[in-house]
Amino acid sequence: MARTPFLAANWKMYPIPAGALEADSPYRPQSGIDTAVFPTFLDLKACIDAGLPTGAQYGHPDSEGAHTGDVSMVMLKKLGCNFVLCGHSDRRHDHHEEDTDVAAQANAALRSGLHPIVCVGETKVERDSRRQKKVVERQVKCLPLTQNITIAYEPVWAIGTGVTPTPEQAQDMHAFIRSLLPDTRRESTRILYGGSLKPDNAEGLLMQPDIDGGLVGGASLKAQTFRELTTIALRIKA
Ligand code: PGA
Repeated sequence: MARTPFLAANWKMYPIPAGALEADSPYRPQSGIDTAVFPTFLDLKACIDAGLPTGAQYGHPDSEGAHTGDVSMVMLKKLGCNFVLCGHSDRRHDHHEEDTDVAAQANAALRSGLHPIVCVGETKVERDSRRQKKVVERQVKCLPLTQNITIAYEPVWAIGTGVTPTPEQAQDMHAFIRSLLPDTRRESTRILYGGSLKPDNAEGLLMQPDIDGGLVGGASLKAQTFRELTTIALRIKA
């Protein structure tokens, strides 16, 4: 089954990149490629109003309640979000999110009508001790895999470091993740790669059959660089 390539821009705690809200913004989907942007909570509305497919970087699973500083999935949906990131490694690290929390977020996202992009991936210590598949299997197995979700494989040691797995190492993990999916979802679920993805290394990674696009951090902060990534993805995948 041909899966439409998908490039998601994770802007983390940075402002909206110059040009992102314009009519010729490279962050808009084109024929043959899906895109989405993930700004801070403060910038969600501007992106939604500009017509960009938009998601939050986190949503609380409860619809409302005494959770100072949080925003719920239900509220994000009401604002006009389409997507939400669940379990990004920054959140697992900074906010001590565990697998069960991430699964609760993914389930709440689906209940609220948001499409979850769930991040999984091993740390350097885990890879060095060859436990990467065990870790990723544990992270994937607790997710609502029979539902329509997207998985992003983001090895923690590759995020923001400039270091990436080889295309073969990434493909091996993506194929492994796909093997964990139920028959009904194995071919249709998109599995994105994330971690220092940029125009220089995108071709080798995106050529892999089980890599369906990317969750892009640093290289998504410049409109021109993101445009180059969409061009490469379209050339290879579409
Ligand atoms: P990076 O970030 O592309 O800057 O490595 C990816 C991510 O954290 O989603």
